[in-house]
Amino acid sequence: MHHSNLENRMQTIPISSFHKYWGKKPYFLSKYIISKYTKEWDLILDPFCWSWSLVIDAVLSNRRLVWQDINPISTSINKWLTWNIRHEELRRVWEETLKPICVKLELKYYSDVGGKLIKSFLRTKKDDTINAILLKDWEIKRNADGLENKWIHEPFIPHWWFEKPMISNSRLTVKKNTKVKDYFTDLSLRCHSELLFAIINLKPEHQAFFMTAFTANIANCSKLLPPIKSRWIFAPWAWMTWFYIANEYIENNVFHFYWNRVQKLLKAKQFFEANSTGMLSEGMEEVMGSESNFIFTTGDAKNIQIDSNTVDVIITDPPYWWTVPYLEQSAIWNAFINVEPNLLEEIVISDSKERNKGKDGFRKDLFNAFLEMNRVLKDTGKLILTYNSVSLDDMNKLSAILRDTGFQILNVSNVVQKTKSPRQLNRINVVGWDLLIIWVKSANPTLFEFNEDVLSRLEEINLHNFMN
Ligand SMILES: C[S@@+](CC[C@H](N)C(=O)[O-])C[C@H]1O[C@@H](n2cnc3c(N)ncnc32)[C@H](O)[C@@H]1O
Repeated sequence: MHHSNLENRMQTIPISSFHKYWGKKPYFLSKYIISKYTKEWDLILDPFCWSWSLVIDAVLSNRRLVWQDINPISTSINKWLTWNIRHEELRRVWEETLKPICVKLELKYYSDVGGKLIKSFLRTKKDDTINAILLKDWEIKRNADGLENKWIHEPFIPHWWFEKPMISNSRLTVKKNTKVKDYFTDLSLRCHSELLFAIINLKPEHQAFFMTAFTANIANCSKLLPPIKSRWIFAPWAWMTWFYIANEYIENNVFHFYWNRVQKLLKAKQFFEANSTGMLSEGMEEVMGSESNFIFTTGDAKNIQIDSNTVDVIITDPPYWWTVPYLEQSAIWNAFINVEPNLLEEIVISDSKERNKGKDGFRKDLFNAFLEMNRVLKDTGKLILTYNSVSLDDMNKLSAILRDTGFQILNVSNVVQKTKSPRQLNRINVVGWDLLIIWVKSANPTLFEFNEDVLSRLEEINLHNFMN
């Protein structure tokens, strides 16, 4: 199959492209793992599910599933999709309530003197407008300073969620005492706040959907640099992001981009309704007792709320030695959720001086998480890890932890991708692809050593072949 066709196919799976957060696994990897290693009614657990994409196929093919992550945005993004509210109802709420408000506000904030709508501003760091790009025809207004004068004198207090503090971290370029609102221009802050007030006025059962669209869109209309797109061909929507404000940046029309985002979410909702084989459960007992229920929990992988010896297959992508401090990275999304993130229990190595998250703690935490996975897994069960590591050293540290928590390696293979991750491209002596590693429980596990020789002889899983 030609690459661009392939890319189109991957991109048009609506449940994978509605929110801009990084690290998503391709849908066909999920399909491959679920069909190869699980059977109907199996109980599957992903204790580090983040974007949920690794195990999504389980709820499309009659499996039971527990999705868990410590990050509240993960649970909240995923829940709205599976709630028992039809997409038609949400579409009606959009058309009748929220869209008219957006149209009105867009006209107020984003029309130029001639009444034409502005799609984007090109700004300098001080919020000065250099050029404005008009919505229709992509016409560019040069030296568009002064376009915002219509409303600038109106008193305004941003929604208090924008006052929430960021965690300072020089690697993520977050300075001390930064607040969420510092990533937005005055215009963008006003528009986001007005939109937020409108969403909060909706019925509670509709809010989750429209808030998800809100968080999905927010970075788009901020001062932040457009993140690097597309880690590999199978995940063209995956974004890497950090909190860097360039000297010149593009700021987008909040209402126009929100509108687009809502359409994407509605498509995802419709897709899920048409293809899901399971039901979202209220509690864990329902998942245990039933045939194809699933649940999301915002929980700690070191303390899984599941009975011992009950899970058939664990499929997961654990935190890596030194990559993304997920909760810090998610701060501008989590600011809009009414749950305080559990920073203390996050398994992570962070450069932030505000946190005490070093290498030793990381190793201990990871050990405890795998011990817990060993407890909940049936003796006949499997632990399947996808692991994208930059170094053999990291692989071997992981391997030792798995051995020490009672797991024996069964099989390792290579998932072939088109391009490598930025981290993998930027360093030498790295483990090239994502590995798929299968472990089983063992009373007497032996240590498996990853080395150049082992890696050069790995079986390759080519997702292209699997799709054809
Ligand atoms: C490598 S990511 C998983 C990526 C995911 N497979 C995907 O495709 O998006 C690791 C995840 O572990 C989560 N995490 C870190 N500490 C945790 C803990 N104590 N309990 C549960 N999840 C945790 C992070 O929030 C992050 O989402």
